[in-house]
Amino acid sequence: MEAGSWSGAGRSEPKDLLRLITCGSVDDGKSTLIGRLLHDSRLIMDDQLQALAADSVRHGTVGDELDFALLVDGLEAEREQGITIDVAYRFFTTPRRSFMVADTPGHEQYTRNMATGASNAQAAIILVDARKGVLVQTRRHSFICALLGIRHVVLAVNKIDLVDYGKDAFERILADYRAFSAALGFVSVMPIPLSARHGDNVIARSANTPWYDGPCLLDYLERIDVQSETASRPFRFPVQWVNRPDSEFRGYAGTVASGSIAPGDDIVVAASGQLARVARIVTSDGDLVRAVAGDAVTITLADDIDVGRGDMLARPTERPDVADQFAAHLIWMDQDALLPGRSYLLRIGTRSGVPASVTTIKYKIDVNTREHLATHGLALNEIGFCNLATAVPVSFDTYEANRRTGAFIVIDRYSNRTVGAGMIAFALRRAANIAWQPLSVGRKDRAGLKNQKPCMVWFTGLSGAGKSTIANLLDQKLFAMAHHTMLLDGDNLRHGLSRDLGFTEADRVENIRRAGEVAKLMVDAGLIVICSFISPYRAEREMVRGLVGEGEFIEVFVDTPIEECVQRDPKGLYSKAKAGKIKNFTGIDAPYERPEAPELHLQTIGASPDELADVVIRALVERGNL
Ligand code: ADX
Repeated sequence: MEAGSWSGAGRSEPKDLLRLITCGSVDDGKSTLIGRLLHDSRLIMDDQLQALAADSVRHGTVGDELDFALLVDGLEAEREQGITIDVAYRFFTTPRRSFMVADTPGHEQYTRNMATGASNAQAAIILVDARKGVLVQTRRHSFICALLGIRHVVLAVNKIDLVDYGKDAFERILADYRAFSAALGFVSVMPIPLSARHGDNVIARSANTPWYDGPCLLDYLERIDVQSETASRPFRFPVQWVNRPDSEFRGYAGTVASGSIAPGDDIVVAASGQLARVARIVTSDGDLVRAVAGDAVTITLADDIDVGRGDMLARPTERPDVADQFAAHLIWMDQDALLPGRSYLLRIGTRSGVPASVTTIKYKIDVNTREHLATHGLALNEIGFCNLATAVPVSFDTYEANRRTGAFIVIDRYSNRTVGAGMIAFALRRAANIAWQPLSVGRKDRAGLKNQKPCMVWFTGLSGAGKSTIANLLDQKLFAMAHHTMLLDGDNLRHGLSRDLGFTEADRVENIRRAGEVAKLMVDAGLIVICSFISPYRAEREMVRGLVGEGEFIEVFVDTPIEECVQRDPKGLYSKAKAGKIKNFTGIDAPYERPEAPELHLQTIGASPDELADVVIRALVERGNL
């Protein structure tokens, strides 16, 4: 997904541009309709037309006529499969308006593409085949459009020629559509009977539908009023970068996400609450007396305050929410499922790299029926309603109030892939009402009394690798040296704190989250905390690393080849797993992600546990912990 469409950061765009999304399946004639719009609005260059004529002979399915679908269907390979994948943007223009059309595939598995296309569209054309009427996919498309904030819908009842231009079929479809879409909050639904293939009611009213007295499609698209959207909303300016060419000039560059601002107006930095007055609004074409939504400008302030990239400027009387917990709809876009407790990075507005995790998935939504279903995770193309927690407070609006400042994208920490997109529903007040209680005795004081520098010594490795044995020896040795330690072991924790958890990926993520939080408290208490968990996922080990200070997390990879573990099999679990009696067993039918750069890498073959415990002690001495 193109992050810009979610972030609100980008170039200024022409004010009379209407951004559309078309929804429908290949069979509904969607590509044909877009091709028809492009062609009939005379935007097809002559040479493109020639190529089209040649292509139509090769691939076309409509005899000697031009096959409009070929204009939009993009890549050769896709054509050969007879489907469109991903999102394509088309532009066309008429004397009244310019149009940008997002074209996305109609089949079920591509929710992410549709969401991408819908995220910045102002209106949707939802195609229905006049012969088939409202289908499950019509409901799905409508729901996703509504979820992504589209408020204007054209219900394009296509292939009306194939029902003999019949009024009854049209009205039946309209009644069906109105019945189910009533709950979706559309401001307008405009039904138009048309034939994309023959051009009826596309750019001119058709004589074949004398009973229809509404506008043709293009006419309607030229007139539809979507303007009111951003200009009248509260002023929001996510700062994209600080422009400081010399010591004289300091300006904040970005695009006005909503509302307007003028020199002399008061502003506030949402997160810090610092106030200032706008001095100038600078652009490459000179200063502006007012900047409005969509303008890319540099704002200078009359007062010297702290503003950085990712901050949001607003009016003091109309502030956005600032919170580190909120509820949001989340569309999952990755093969690897979303798991509560796993740490991801959010990009919200111009702010990127904010560590965040989903604390609860309240439910997932069946996009076809809108039913709410219980779930432990979100798979590719699933949509859920979740609570999220960010590592630092962020500024935002609800998506309903502002599609730019209320949206975010979720990025995988390791692959850097965009794995999800979210729409904020509300800030969680409970977060706002809990402050940090200042404590008089700090961790330094506690550690000082114990003559040590606290840390987590985190053993990771396969079951049977020797983690617990080495950890236990290390604990004994440190104790003998009069150090203050605590040993947290996976098996033991699972008898109490994690009694309710099993070994699915989701449960292991939660297990490590709990273990990490507890270990962190113990580090705060000044202890050297020895932790022994398989902790098979890099993401969670890195999450725990992030809980404590620089250098306080010492990752010890207890590296024993799986064959050796199977052979040792100290608890008899491998033979059970191999016999299929234990599911999700690490190394057998569940993964183990080896540490990439552990602080210590212990190879257990050829070294005794006692020697390896001494290796750890030497490392702790070198690091100044003992
Ligand atoms: S972790 O994956 O969540 O870090 P943890 O270290 O707490 O696991 O627990 C692992 C211990 O549980 C193993 O040493 C083994 O004794 C036991 N166990 C039971 N079932 C499994 C399983 N499916 N996979 C791995 N370990 C299991």
